[in-house]
Amino acid sequence: MALWSGRFEGGQDSFLQQFGASLPVDRRMYVQDVEGSIAHARMLAAQGIISSSDAEAICAGLSSIRHDIACGTFMFDEADEDIHMALEAELTRRIGDAGARLHTARSRNDQVATDTRLFAKTLARNLMEAAGSLREALIDQAQQHMHTIMPGYTHMQHAQPVLLSHHFLAYSWMLARDHTRLMAAFCAADCCPLGSAALAGTSWPIDREATAHSLGFAACTENSLDAVSDRDFLLDLLHACTVMAVHLSRLCEELILWSTSEFGFVTLSDAYSTGSSIMPQKKNPDFAELIRGKTGRVVGDMVSLLVTLKGLPLAYNKDMQEDKSCAFDAADTLLDCLRCATGMVSTMTVHADAMRAAVETGYLAATDVADYLAKKGMPFRQAHEVVGRLVLLCDKRGCELKDLTLEDLRAQSDLFEADVVSCLSIESIVDARVSQGGTAPAAVTEQLECAKQALVRDREAYADDQGPLGAITDLL
Ligand code: ARG
Repeated sequence: MALWSGRFEGGQDSFLQQFGASLPVDRRMYVQDVEGSIAHARMLAAQGIISSSDAEAICAGLSSIRHDIACGTFMFDEADEDIHMALEAELTRRIGDAGARLHTARSRNDQVATDTRLFAKTLARNLMEAAGSLREALIDQAQQHMHTIMPGYTHMQHAQPVLLSHHFLAYSWMLARDHTRLMAAFCAADCCPLGSAALAGTSWPIDREATAHSLGFAACTENSLDAVSDRDFLLDLLHACTVMAVHLSRLCEELILWSTSEFGFVTLSDAYSTGSSIMPQKKNPDFAELIRGKTGRVVGDMVSLLVTLKGLPLAYNKDMQEDKSCAFDAADTLLDCLRCATGMVSTMTVHADAMRAAVETGYLAATDVADYLAKKGMPFRQAHEVVGRLVLLCDKRGCELKDLTLEDLRAQSDLFEADVVSCLSIESIVDARVSQGGTAPAAVTEQLECAKQALVRDREAYADDQGPLGAITDLL
């Protein structure tokens, strides 16, 4: 029997019942729904709206239902539209009239908004944690490759030499920004809508601060219409997920490229590779490709929710029921991707010799030779022109800049002297880039320290949030 059976004479078609249901998606929020209902029942009793014996029966009943669901012994009735109705109906079956009093001064509209915010906070936390592990793997690899030099690229062409550690740390900073975005999404969700009721608030003498506090929210929402129709916190979470998925996709694209025979910069471990059903020699970077591929799905989830929300008038509309599948799918997908990327990064083998060999070709010293002339007084534009002509000469001869003689150099400019060799050496080119954030070992050592400290700081930020719902992480 539906919870609104009083108003209706006809029964519901079973297809339409299923079409309108969200139970398959929102049953994951059972812990949040139970916690929200317990907080609500306690507040109702404290305010004298229900008796304390009813509140006790409600809390005990809900705890036993939560226990049964966690143990897998609870049988969900598919005729229940959503987790809110499923739990309330079961509670009333178990404890009778007291259960039927729980929904006083509440609507599923503020209930679902509360559950979803609690769930979003947990998802954000879990993602921060998983992103932290990937950051740690990148920082570890950076630490191991403080002296490995590779070509830095622009336009996928050899540009200037960089340390591999510098390259890995670039990704750790992307993930540090992702952490900031997740924290913002966490804070956006950290406001309690409970007590907004259906849309206009309630005439019951409720205490919204009390429920918000016992659920671990930082504050109460300010406007009941906004509170039941706001899903910005999910958009914020999806945006954070989307940007992070794009970062992972870029990382994976590089690992795929680096593991080709053409590059040969890394070998992914067997665990993170697959073979071919026909070509015995193949070792494919399937998991990196899948992470790259799943980015499309995460972006799609964000677009889907944006489009769902765009035409909605205030306040609650059933369209909003579609919100959770987008947010959950994006977060689940990204969590798996982060876990996979962490394992892949920490187990891959770097071929420092192949990287070093690649640096020998492609005129990576050109900028430094131009700088050499500029430091001797030649305007940089002219110096650029001179070195451009030298590169053209090398191109024609099929050699590198370091193969040119001093005479070859002096034929273009008499500012060249024997000391030019220092800026033709790859090691000294790298060592010279000491500007803050640059690729010199000294600068990267400082950067590594900052990256480690940032990770420690960020980890402290989410470790603090072990509120009443800290334990639900395991149940996701
Ligand atoms: N299952 C619904 C959802 O996810 C819960 C809220 C339903 N409210 C309503 N007035 N029909 O959005």
